[in-house]
Amino acid sequence: MTENKSNDPANDSSRRTFLKYMTMLGAAAVSVGVLRGALQNIAPAISGITGGFPTMQLVDSSGNPIKTTSLVVNNPQIVTFNYPLQSDPSFLLRLGDSSNNDKVINPVSVPASPGFPAFTSPGGTGPYKSVVASSAICQHLGCKPPAIRFHPPSASSYPGKIHCGCHGSTYDPYNGFSIITGPTVHPLPNITLNWDSTSDTYSVTGMLGPTIYGQPSDLSGGTPFPSGTTKTTVTSEVP
Ligand code: FES
Repeated sequence: MTENKSNDPANDSSRRTFLKYMTMLGAAAVSVGVLRGALQNIAPAISGITGGFPTMQLVDSSGNPIKTTSLVVNNPQIVTFNYPLQSDPSFLLRLGDSSNNDKVINPVSVPASPGFPAFTSPGGTGPYKSVVASSAICQHLGCKPPAIRFHPPSASSYPGKIHCGCHGSTYDPYNGFSIITGPTVHPLPNITLNWDSTSDTYSVTGMLGPTIYGQPSDLSGGTPFPSGTTKTTVTSEVP
């Protein structure tokens, strides 16, 4: 004859103890989940990037690689891409002379600025060594395009300069994005570009110079790209 264990008082007691522990365990798990969610909401946005600057290919809005022919010499439009964070607009310039012929941009030493050492701007890349890039966030108080933009050499105001309309800072893209006039006390952070001569394509690989305005580091303090992003889109806007 089979014994009915459900009527055994000792067995009932151990089952109640087991259920009690399971209930406590469930409550603890819920608490941990709530706590983690709360912490994620409180924590400042930080970059998911680890191990240094990402390499990202420059592409157009259709996802096709940017080639030299995609870039207009002395383009009067504002040409930007986001790097190294999704919330960081950056300038992409194909620089030319006053006749709109490509101009070779040589490496240049950019002087130290408060809190940051001097650095060597890498100069231009591409087949004519005329393509350069920098942060498009003004180093004075953080104005972004279109308030800050490049004025081509043929422009009537600020020819050949990057000018910020917020308080008048000007930068020299032909010389490492160095300061021409304040109130900024920092040059624009330079972005390093890699040009693949075989495919005529461009990638961004890192940054040089002072930290992007308003961020504790270039890789934190803004909105990061989703993990695994390998491309960044170049866009143009009419000033
Ligand atoms: S924010 Fe650009 S000059 Fe002040």
